[in-house]
Amino acid sequence: MRSSLRISTLFAFVLLFCALTAAYGQDTPSDATTLTANPVYQKSCAKCHGKTGEGRHFGGPSLVSEKVAATSADDLRNIINNGKGRMPKYAGKLTPEEINRLILQIKAAKTKQ
Ligand code: HEC
Repeated sequence: MRSSLRISTLFAFVLLFCALTAAYGQDTPSDATTLTANPVYQKSCAKCHGKTGEGRHFGGPSLVSEKVAATSADDLRNIINNGKGRMPKYAGKLTPEEINRLILQIKAAKTKQ
């Protein structure tokens, strides 16, 4: 009896620990220097490229792919300014500074497969 009580206490602590780590994990990107923490990204891009930048909504591809990591800043700027396929153009909708910042943040984002 006693030992099963101890195990469930341990289990409760493990659950608490997981909940805390998950909450901390969600808080981490809140420094506005990362792509997913950038309000411009969340407002203009996340609906297609996903809140995490990994793509999937409305066919927007991942922005943290090997392909994007290998794309030059000039080419990224071209795609964002002029659009491509179903990707809308953002020249005139976002300022060049906002677009530059997005490019830097896309470049800085950690690549996932
Ligand atoms: C309406 C949905 C939509 C929105 C909003 C959108 N995109 Fe896209 N984006 C796409 C699609 C679809 C493609 C793929 C275009 C193609 O290759 O035909 C794409 C491609 C890209 C690419 C090139 C990726 C690659 O693999 O070559 C970049 C970079 C990009 N988008 C950045 C952005 C940024 C930054 C924003 C916000 C300013 C944004 N997108 C907003 C749909 C969207």
